[in-house]
Amino acid sequence: MDVSMNKEGVAKPKLITRILRAIYPLHDDVVAKAFIKAGLYRKALELLPPYWKRIVDLGCGTGRTFEVVEEGKVVVGLDLTLDFLKIAKTRHRQKPFDLVYGTATHLPFRSNSFDGVLTYTMMHHLTYDEKLRTLSEIARVSDTYVFGEVGKKLCWSSILLKMIGSKGLISKDVFEKVGLRIEVWEDPKSFCLIIGKASRLRKE
Ligand SMILES: C[S@@+](CC[C@H](N)C(=O)[O-])C[C@H]1O[C@@H](n2cnc3c(N)ncnc32)[C@H](O)[C@@H]1O
Repeated sequence: MDVSMNKEGVAKPKLITRILRAIYPLHDDVVAKAFIKAGLYRKALELLPPYWKRIVDLGCGTGRTFEVVEEGKVVVGLDLTLDFLKIAKTRHRQKPFDLVYGTATHLPFRSNSFDGVLTYTMMHHLTYDEKLRTLSEIARVSDTYVFGEVGKKLCWSSILLKMIGSKGLISKDVFEKVGLRIEVWEDPKSFCLIIGKASRLRKE
């Protein structure tokens, strides 16, 4: 598995990136493992069309989602933190997943090049405008988008929100603005994660 570099649109590490790096072991070793155990990554993947062969995981981090993907499927992981991609590369050495260094707001992919797009706890790291830009990029590269995202129940405190590097929770209105129709928006009682699916209104 190679890490390819796409520097276009990749910002220099800012405070937010440094915070993410500092708290990442907590997410990676505790939270993400708990998500896997509870079947929550799989729950989002099950919302993809059954025929899917190739998806992109935006904000893939160290590649925890790769662990629950069945054989024969291709996942491209994109992240703007090179250190996390390096861990993903070592961890999933034997798997045929591609890694791309880039930002979700400017995707280095052709239009309609994926059967689906996945994001897992990535959207809350983006500002409202970045969410708009990212969702519009998502709708350009695929007509199906599935996600697991931090919900209001977890973020009872603005201090906690800031501690996890959040710039704002996902809201339904951004989807409509870029022509995505929400089909699933589940707010499970446990783990405080929203699991969702949206589809492009106009098929291209
Ligand atoms: C909480 S982690 C989740 C990682 C992984 N999806 C998981 O479930 O374990 C958020 C990830 O989003 C990435 N990220 C934040 N902003 C991003 C952006 N604009 N483009 C791509 N990745 C981004 C971070 O580098 C980090 O790896």
